[in-house]
Amino acid sequence: MDICVVALGKIGLPLAVQYASMGHRVRGADINRELVDCINRGEEPFPGEADLAERLSTVVRDGSLTAGTDTTAAVADSDIVVVVVPLVVDSNAEPDYTAMDAATESIGKGIKPGTLVIYETTLPVGTTRERFTPRLAELSGTTPGEDLMVCFSPERVYSGRIFADLSKYPKIVGGIDDRSAAAAIAFYESVLSFDDRDDLDRPNGVWDVGTAEAAELVKLAETTYRDVNIGLANEFARYARSNGIDIHSVIEAANSQPFSHLHQPGISVGGHCIPVYPRLYLSNDPGALLPAASRTTNERMPAWFADMLRAAMGGSLEGRRVLVAGLAYRGGVKEPAFSGTYPLVAALEALGASVGVHDPLFTDAELAAEGFEPAQPGPGWEAVVLHTDHAEYLEWSPADLPDASVVVDGRSFLDPQAWTAAGRSYLSIRP
Ligand SMILES: NC(=O)c1ccc[n+]([C@@H]2O[C@H](COP(=O)([O-])OP(=O)(O)OC[C@H]3O[C@@H](n4cnc5c(N)ncnc54)[C@H](O)[C@@H]3O)[C@@H](O)[C@H]2O)c1
Repeated sequence: MDICVVALGKIGLPLAVQYASMGHRVRGADINRELVDCINRGEEPFPGEADLAERLSTVVRDGSLTAGTDTTAAVADSDIVVVVVPLVVDSNAEPDYTAMDAATESIGKGIKPGTLVIYETTLPVGTTRERFTPRLAELSGTTPGEDLMVCFSPERVYSGRIFADLSKYPKIVGGIDDRSAAAAIAFYESVLSFDDRDDLDRPNGVWDVGTAEAAELVKLAETTYRDVNIGLANEFARYARSNGIDIHSVIEAANSQPFSHLHQPGISVGGHCIPVYPRLYLSNDPGALLPAASRTTNERMPAWFADMLRAAMGGSLEGRRVLVAGLAYRGGVKEPAFSGTYPLVAALEALGASVGVHDPLFTDAELAAEGFEPAQPGPGWEAVVLHTDHAEYLEWSPADLPDASVVVDGRSFLDPQAWTAAGRSYLSIRP
């Protein structure tokens, strides 16, 4: 099969590598020339994705994966097009289709009769059928239901462990019609293999959920569920802390009952999944109460931790030097998307603090490009707020931060003893 993957980011590149390693000819298309050149050299463009470096160099070396910046040409040479260009929300929390529309334009111009286009980017319900399919048809002169097949298939993997997740989770598909769905099922069955999962009601594999809309809603439902769950855990945590109750033991105990699955509370939930996708759901269903409330609750957490620090430092952060540990939204991945570090730094600065940001996965130039003062541990920092659970931070000791009288652990990640034994004040969501 000739396959085109449009967007070679954290998700698209591993997908392209997966398809190529299953014996197909894959053309990757991305607007980022530097990224494309790096891929064509067989070099991993970002760290942290298990097995990517080795698998990428193999498929580039054997010629099964090539990358380019001309999406239309790559599509013209392909039977199947998989699209994973991100869709984000703008400052009004509304979907911003700029990148997706641009990609759809380039794809539409390259489509020939009989092409199957699969959108994997998380989308509001109805987008595949109502927004993209008519445009693809118009630009290519093809007709949906006749010689243009279009599907939605949510990408449910976790960056850092994509290849493992591709086998672990059922691949959900929904077509604009039955023919499209059948073609997508045949495609995914030829490029993926699935682990046996006794815990599922159906055999693990490609699951057709009936329509593109149902497939779109699957991803919005699972991510919004998590956001609501975390929002509830954060509400409980704030209440528990102000009443001297240890939220972690409460959650551990509550979750021993089979119907409770409370997530861990904490400083932030970043990435695309949690901050963005509930907003996409809300764009479909603006009257929904729980998703909106959870977003509010979860977005308040960085400021809540900043305020915890303010209280611990005598009621004011005016002129105090505060080190924020971690930009990545999750430990071990170089992924700043929608990280809680942005609102955390803004909240600390609004309280008058002078803030530096450290992250072992980002260079000083990269931190500066995000608008932060790049920083290293050392003397002079009067307090530390841990935002990201990077393993490196477990190595930090009071000697590395000789002047930090307060450590706020936004993830309940550090060993409190290590800090309190040295006379430092250690604060977390636990009382
Ligand atoms: N990152 C995750 O953990 C994750 C998990 C599940 C699903 N997803 C889905 O995958 C999508 C992509 O996420 P990502 O993490 O790979 O993003 P990313 O930011 O790592 O990569 C996006 C890539 O898209 C490219 N791009 C932008 N506009 C383009 C265009 N018009 N044509 C071609 N390429 C274009 C960019 O140059 C970039 O390389 C997300 O929006 C989401 O729907 C992501």
